[in-house]
Amino acid sequence: MTTRTNIGVSIRSASKRYGDMVALNAITLDVEPGEFVSLLGPSGSGKTTLLGILGGFVQPSSGSVWSGERDITYMPPHKRDIGIVFQSYALFPHMTVGENVAFPLRARRLPKAGWPAKVAEALAMVELSGYQDRRISQLSGGQRQRVALARAIVFEPRLILMDEPLSALDKQLRESMQLELRRLHKKLGATIIYVTHDQREALTMSDRVAILRKGNLVQIGTPSQLYDHPADSFVASFIGESTLLPVTRVDSNRVEFGTLTLRSARPLPVGEALLLALQTEKLLIDDGSRDASVNRIPCRVTEVVYQGESLKVFVKMADSTVISLRQPNHHAARMQIPAVGEQMMMILDPEDTIIVPKSNDPAASPSSH
Ligand SMILES: Nc1ncnc2c1ncn2[C@@H]1O[C@H](COP(=O)(O)OP(=O)(O)O)[C@@H](O)[C@H]1O
Ligand SMILES: [Mg+2]
Repeated sequence: MTTRTNIGVSIRSASKRYGDMVALNAITLDVEPGEFVSLLGPSGSGKTTLLGILGGFVQPSSGSVWSGERDITYMPPHKRDIGIVFQSYALFPHMTVGENVAFPLRARRLPKAGWPAKVAEALAMVELSGYQDRRISQLSGGQRQRVALARAIVFEPRLILMDEPLSALDKQLRESMQLELRRLHKKLGATIIYVTHDQREALTMSDRVAILRKGNLVQIGTPSQLYDHPADSFVASFIGESTLLPVTRVDSNRVEFGTLTLRSARPLPVGEALLLALQTEKLLIDDGSRDASVNRIPCRVTEVVYQGESLKVFVKMADSTVISLRQPNHHAARMQIPAVGEQMMMILDPEDTIIVPKSNDPAASPSSH
């Protein structure tokens, strides 16, 4: 496709209220040209509302939206150079695949002679070459979603908004489409803002992920920043697979955890309520090879669950709390797992000892409006 200058998009202190309900609370977000940013959060956290403000379908109650130097807060959607893909494909059922994909070209009154090449190129991008003349009713769910995608990219928009476009697909198709979309993003170079409630999907696809909770932007960062340095207990519990347990600060790099003292290589957050985020894959079974600088946590094995690529080992700690650790499924690692009922030592490297402040519940705090 032809090269075009990409645009970034910025949202400045945007809020959206529906009556007394605050759907979005003073969101500020800068998306760089060509960046893939996901909006991640549980259902009702405001993801679709934020996407709507970016696309121009939802008017913010306050705040503004910028495309480069241009204030586009009140620009209607069709004037914005934006491709959109929704969860429901919203295809025209009476039209063929080719007619559906050509629709934005028709709407934009682009010269008809150029349509076939553009349609063929967009269909090739989503691996549906040769499907031009099929009816929508003849396609599977995954194929329909790819037609919707082809329709969103056929006019080479500089910004593409996607709202849970893969959530109706089965797991295998969803995972292959995630990788396809990543490659497509690299090929197109377009700025993409992608809504999902699936943390793994967000981590897989994005340059950066913005975490929303109850209309608030809790944290934005690269996948590894979020995963390894969660800002609070909400992010830590939402990303990855971890157990959060209360700890008490001893000094700048140590916490009390039950009767144990754990060392963290990371600067401890200040704040009264601190939690240890134990990610299942960070806990190791002690094989005696590590020195005394690592944290050791005694426990007893209660259950081993075989999950194919890994085994989930449930253990009970001295205070009866049950947590789990993940052991890769290869011979040497399997052999380390003690029998159910046996005592063992878990190792937690200070580099992997993640301590987070307990998140503020925005619903519990007094409204700022
Ligand atoms: N048109 C509307 N009228 C009233 N409330 C709405 C409207 N649209 C969204 N909301 C509310 O705003 C909140 C955020 O919704 P939404 O942005 O759809 O969340 P998400 O996409 O993260 O599931 C929800 O509590 C939802 O019920
Ligand atoms: Mg939504």
